Amino acid sequence: MTAVSAVEAALAQRRRRWRPVLWLLLAAVLVVVFIALGLIIRVLQSGTPYYSDDDQHFRFGSIGAEVASGIPYKVWQALPVLFPEDFPAGDYSSFGFLYDGTGDLPIGISKRRVSGVDLVWFNCAVCHAGTYRESEEDAPQIVTGMPAHQLDLHGFTTVVLGAASDPRMAPDSLRTAMTEAGVGLGPIESILWNVAVFPRLREGMIARASRLQPLLDRQPDWAHGRVDTFNPYKVLEFDWPTDTLSEQEVVGASDFPSIFLQGPRADMQLHWDGNNPSLAERNLSAALGAGVTPETVDHGSIERVAEWLLDLEPPTSPHQPNADAVARGFDIYMRDCASCHGWQSPDGYVFEGDLLGDITPLDEVGTDPNRLHSYTQAFRDQQVSELFKDTPHAFRQFQKTDGYANAPLDGLWLRGPYLHNGSVPTLADLLTPSPERPKTFVRGGDVIDPLGGFISPPCTTEAACFDTATRGNSNMGHVWGTDLDAPGKSDLIAYLLTF
Ligand code: HEC
Ligand code: HEC
Repeated sequence: MTAVSAVEAALAQRRRRWRPVLWLLLAAVLVVVFIALGLIIRVLQSGTPYYSDDDQHFRFGSIGAEVASGIPYKVWQALPVLFPEDFPAGDYSSFGFLYDGTGDLPIGISKRRVSGVDLVWFNCAVCHAGTYRESEEDAPQIVTGMPAHQLDLHGFTTVVLGAASDPRMAPDSLRTAMTEAGVGLGPIESILWNVAVFPRLREGMIARASRLQPLLDRQPDWAHGRVDTFNPYKVLEFDWPTDTLSEQEVVGASDFPSIFLQGPRADMQLHWDGNNPSLAERNLSAALGAGVTPETVDHGSIERVAEWLLDLEPPTSPHQPNADAVARGFDIYMRDCASCHGWQSPDGYVFEGDLLGDITPLDEVGTDPNRLHSYTQAFRDQQVSELFKDTPHAFRQFQKTDGYANAPLDGLWLRGPYLHNGSVPTLADLLTPSPERPKTFVRGGDVIDPLGGFISPPCTTEAACFDTATRGNSNMGHVWGTDLDAPGKSDLIAYLLTF
């Protein structure tokens, strides 16, 4: 062996020794590049599922609420695992959310991927879809457009706000719960969550809780099928500290209305207090109530819903009242009620009446004043001056009113309990003088009552008990029809059951 070849052999040996290290290095670089690429590709992903069917779009399509108000889909799925005491049914049906069997999210919850993370939150259907049964034995029928009278939004909100500061929301236990819920994090996702999601999640939830909780502390439970329409907006979006809300305005729980047949309602003064005569503004303001902000709003999606609602008919009433009674009841109704409410013909609802879509002053209608007072001039002024400012969507038509709206009564069989605060269970009760109407009852049942509305038994426990003595829940007022004689009332009810 020459000296030269000895050196070459030594070099070759060293190369051989280093080769595995080099390969390892290369592999490591490749892994880093792959992860980085995976992360970049993931983070660039944004978008929301498209539903070609309008009803499906209403149930599951995003209106843009996820970004500002939502939580990650995987956290949504993990909450029932983390907080089993709050989710006795194991899912969101514990709060009256409805599942229609088409996916793992309830009706009214939409999904949107934002910078690689799937977020979920409300759309219109969460408050505007409900169920009915003709009898206890029947399967519930889902009706989109009717009030979500079974939904316990207050209970749900309380649990989500409480979760914010619960130790179980720490990344480790959350991660375990996500895996248990079948939505564990993949390797790339895991990195993304460690860097961007976990650190912000609790802070975001705590910030929200710190603004909303003081308001909830000043209010009674909203009760099933109701929400405070405007007060949460004051504290969450306008950043008004709760203690700046006056005692008079601080309670505003309102029943979810039905939203069928919006076309004929276009220029009526609606919302329960008639504070807005523009259909487009009512729809957009509803979206803000669902958690959309002027920055995140999906106008196209909302306009699609709005268009669909223009002629969405309520399902025909299944009640089968006696035809002679209906004919007699019709005469009473045309005399005592039609000018404010319009009327039902065999071919559909007739949106005509001298006072239809106007406002009856509070002292004349005499119903609970809280919802009216919760909408204040100061709030109105800020809505008009700030929201969607300098865009074609700017609010112009909101106004402070002095009473409640004379609304059309189409789909009435699905709208119980009645009045803006849902304080009167059946139509028969509404035709009874206020002092004799039920004082406490259970809201949220979906079996239809032969006297109109839903069977609402007297309370046996405090759970889901609606107490008309609680602030905002008064069942006083609206005395029209209460002085009819018994046969007159039963005829009028027969006719109303055809609506
Ligand atoms: C968080 C529950 C909730 C969500 C989500 C919601 N609404 Fe509503 N909606 C209400 C309540 C409560 C009222 C009654 C408001 C009031 O007058 O106090 C209402 C009123 C309305 C009205 C006026 C009805 C009338 O005749 O007075 C329309 C129209 C409407 N909503 C459409 C929508 C649309 C469209 C969406 C989605 C973009 C939506 N809502 C989302 C709860 C909700
Ligand atoms: C002067 C106008 C006026 C007359 C007349 C009138 N109402 Fe009303 N009605 C109202 C107003 C205003 C409300 C809303 C009150 C509230 O929710 O606080 C209302 C609410 C209702 C509701 C509840 C609707 C819902 O979705 O909860 C029913 C049902 C109803 N009226 C039936 C009747 C019947 C039946 C008559 C005739 C016996 C009648 N009204 C006469 C103005 C009128």
